[in-house]
Amino acid sequence: MRRHLPRPRDFGPLLRFKSPQWNPTVRRLAAALTIEDLRRIAKRRTPRAAFDYTDGAADEELSLARARQAFRDIEFNPSILRDVSTVDTSVEVLGGPSALPFGVAPTGFTRLMQTEGERAGAAAAGAAGIPFALSTLGTTAIEDVAEANPTGRNWFQLYMWKDRPRSVALIDRAKAAGYDALLVTVDAPVAGLRLRDVRNGLTVPPTLTPRTVLDAAWRPRWWIDLLTTEPLSFGSFDRWPGTIAELLDTMFDPSVTFDDLTWIRQQWGGRLVVKGVQTLEDAKRLADAGVDAIVLSNHGGRQLDRAPVPFHLLPDVVREVGTDLEIHLDTGIMHGADIVASIALGARFTLIGRAYLYGLMAGGRRGVDRTIEILADQIRRTMRLLGVNHIAELTPDHVTQLRRTH
Ligand SMILES: Cc1cc2nc3c(=O)[nH]c(=O)nc-3n(C[C@H](O)[C@H](O)[C@H](O)COP(=O)(O)O)c2cc1C
Repeated sequence: MRRHLPRPRDFGPLLRFKSPQWNPTVRRLAAALTIEDLRRIAKRRTPRAAFDYTDGAADEELSLARARQAFRDIEFNPSILRDVSTVDTSVEVLGGPSALPFGVAPTGFTRLMQTEGERAGAAAAGAAGIPFALSTLGTTAIEDVAEANPTGRNWFQLYMWKDRPRSVALIDRAKAAGYDALLVTVDAPVAGLRLRDVRNGLTVPPTLTPRTVLDAAWRPRWWIDLLTTEPLSFGSFDRWPGTIAELLDTMFDPSVTFDDLTWIRQQWGGRLVVKGVQTLEDAKRLADAGVDAIVLSNHGGRQLDRAPVPFHLLPDVVREVGTDLEIHLDTGIMHGADIVASIALGARFTLIGRAYLYGLMAGGRRGVDRTIEILADQIRRTMRLLGVNHIAELTPDHVTQLRRTH
């Protein structure tokens, strides 16, 4: 073979120099291709106690691990030779539209993870045309979230207070601020034992101990954000001097029963969702009670460890009560394909907790945008590869749940 010296006219066309991206956050986020990538960035940038509070679950964290594994243990059955030149991911949920079949789950202490907190979540959700849920333990006021997402849909998540008038006051504020659904969380009569939090000595706001000061040296940006923005406090009540578990156990009412739902419904008057349903029996009782939707959820594995996997529960619940009320699902969602599989098995809607928070910790508002973008891309691609161009065309035949052999 004859050789010659490299000539500019040959290698010129091969050169691809992109203009450099000087903003490190934009650069980092663009390089993140999966939710797991965002999680890794989040871990590097967030003090350990705050990251572990988000990433961790109760006891041995089996509920969470099993829920994530359940999604990995599916097999898709694609249909071929369908025209998938267009794809529509929009759904109707609780009487309104959502551009994608998922919304942002309610999470407490969100500004602890990254100072933009719920405002970033609500604004990103609004921009993407999906609902945002604010927790009773949120760190942004009900009205401020509505201001951050003025044209989108906001939902309010209620923990029942021992002091009933406090619940009524929150319900009234959510109503006045235009929230269009109330999610009552029922899987937390007492706080789950989050061992990582106990071991890390987590407090809200974070306290400066020799260990946290050392940690701060590695994550100066997080601490600068914390100390130069409005103080970390709760949106729905005053400061709390103890740990998160003590807060849950002291303020919230462990005596709430099915009978109280009637009372809550009267106070609220709008769409009522019960979040944290974990058995078929309870799903049936709630269908009889006439609630508008249930969320099959074990709180991201943060309450009862070894709880049922919501995704496993889904087919039975859909079969028994799927025509009486909407069935939503969360816990363990890390990929758009998890969402597609849930919808195919009959869920009306899904919620993302940690996937949103990893994005938030990785890059504030931009990071949440990136989470939504990654999941939306994965949903669209999975649908098209399944030969489906509309959510309503997804059926249980598209999914096989493999049996685990080990
Ligand atoms: C850091 C964190 C805080 C949470 N706080 C609340 C809360 O205040 N109220 C609530 O109903 N659920 C709360 N959840 C549970 C979520 O709403 C949701 O059920 C769960 O995160 C879904 O699992 P995933 O994180 O695997 O998506 C929280 C979850 C996380 C990760």
